[in-house]
Amino acid sequence: MLGAVLILFGYLCGSLSAAIIVARLMGLGDPREAGSGNPGTTNMLRLGGRTAAALTLLGDALKGVLPVLAAHLAGAAPWVLGATGLAAFIGHLYPVFFGFRGGKGVATGLGVIIAWAWPAGLATLGTWLAVAIVTRYASLSALVSFLIAPLYLVWLGAGPILAGAMAVMTALTYWRHRSNIANLLAGREGKISLSSRSKN
Ligand code: G3P
Repeated sequence: MLGAVLILFGYLCGSLSAAIIVARLMGLGDPREAGSGNPGTTNMLRLGGRTAAALTLLGDALKGVLPVLAAHLAGAAPWVLGATGLAAFIGHLYPVFFGFRGGKGVATGLGVIIAWAWPAGLATLGTWLAVAIVTRYASLSALVSFLIAPLYLVWLGAGPILAGAMAVMTALTYWRHRSNIANLLAGREGKISLSSRSKN
């Protein structure tokens, strides 16, 4: 029963799309209809600049952290921790509050990993940052860091259940990034620019 409540809480938290909420509050329209069409931090950077992106990143990461933290505090079993984090991630991808049209899950996934096992979360975040600094592709940073994340969880002792849940998140992340993968392969993926708003 407690497990079901935590998993439902995770899904409902994940369904609160920070990009859509922040865009509405800032009068930026619907991020699903502009730029890349993704309600996420990178697209909000394009559409609204650094403040909009920072608020989106914070909101989307927190909704990954909070349900898993609640599961930790409730003394939940590893499978409940895994399922609660996965539910938050899936809520971001398919939000019940926004017509099931959500984002790609990177910020929420990072929040989930940090709350599952912070050393593995920081290693994943560090990998994202390193790839982003070198290549300036947000999508490639997500693809590389999420590919390695299950291994970080295993190496840093988080256990096979969380590593398995992470592998599911990784597979879903690749599925949601399929247009980015096609663009990367074709050499037309847009790069991150922190200096100004840009459309690509
Ligand atoms: O976090 C999402 C990022 O990996 C790609 O975003 O808007 O360029 O498709 P976007």
